[in-house]
Amino acid sequence: MTPSYFVHDTASIAPEAVIGERTQIWQHCQVREGAVIGEECILGKGVYIDARVQIGSRVKIQNYVSVYEGVTMEDGVFCGPHCVFTNDIQPRAINPDGSLKRADDWTIAPTLVRRGAAIGANATVVCGVTVGRWAMVGAGAVVTRDVPDYGLVYGNPARLYGFVCPCGARLSPFIPAPQPLPDAQDSATMEDEDGDQEMACLRCQRIISIPYRVYAKIVTQR
Ligand SMILES: CC(C)(COP(=O)(O)OP(=O)(O)OC[C@H]1O[C@@H](n2cnc3c(N)ncnc32)[C@H](O)[C@@H]1OP(=O)(O)O)[C@@H](O)C(=O)NCCC(=O)NCCS
Repeated sequence: MTPSYFVHDTASIAPEAVIGERTQIWQHCQVREGAVIGEECILGKGVYIDARVQIGSRVKIQNYVSVYEGVTMEDGVFCGPHCVFTNDIQPRAINPDGSLKRADDWTIAPTLVRRGAAIGANATVVCGVTVGRWAMVGAGAVVTRDVPDYGLVYGNPARLYGFVCPCGARLSPFIPAPQPLPDAQDSATMEDEDGDQEMACLRCQRIISIPYRVYAKIVTQR
């Protein structure tokens, strides 16, 4: 039976990999054993998908992205060209006695990229983090900490500079955030608050609620 997905002649797909319908896999990609790729995904030229990686549906992975074992991407994730996902927080090729490390000599630190998130070109996602729903990681960022839902992070190390709408535009505070009172001892700071900061998208008019304790983590100076 003809597969219901497209694989370029130069791509290498392990027989044990599972590929969803209408997915396109372009020149020189490698998809390893046990990897699962959902429906309607696009894997650009030279993408590497390691063993047992889990990829949802409608995920776009641009040229030369490397996705190593332990990574899970939910539906609708975007990976810009040349971005890298790591999986070993303290990598070594050899043991202290000089012998080659085997596949079971080290521990994978899992990484989760949640629905709709976008990773910019050439970014590195250091393992063990979660990139939140609809978050955006700037080009060239090095992500070392969790990124909140809708969070906009960039730089090395990546810091939280704002929030973005599912349409991709920056969100603006809709109602001003509460300010700490002058006497800090008697006042609740935003980090103590349980409420939400309402954010508005000036492009598509969506309103998104960001918990105050998350909003308070925005970095104001670079
Ligand atoms: C992070 C990003 C979303 C920010 O876009 P933005 O909200 O329009 O931000 P601005 O262009 O207004 O930049 C704001 C500031 O952040 C800096 N900045 C923007 N992107 C940056 C990045 N990736 N790394 C470091 N600094 C960055 C700008 O230089 C500017 O600094 P300044 O105020 O000192 O001049 C965007 O720059 C980006 O990196 N997008 C990803 C592009 C990409 O990789 N696409 C992949 C498909 S090809």
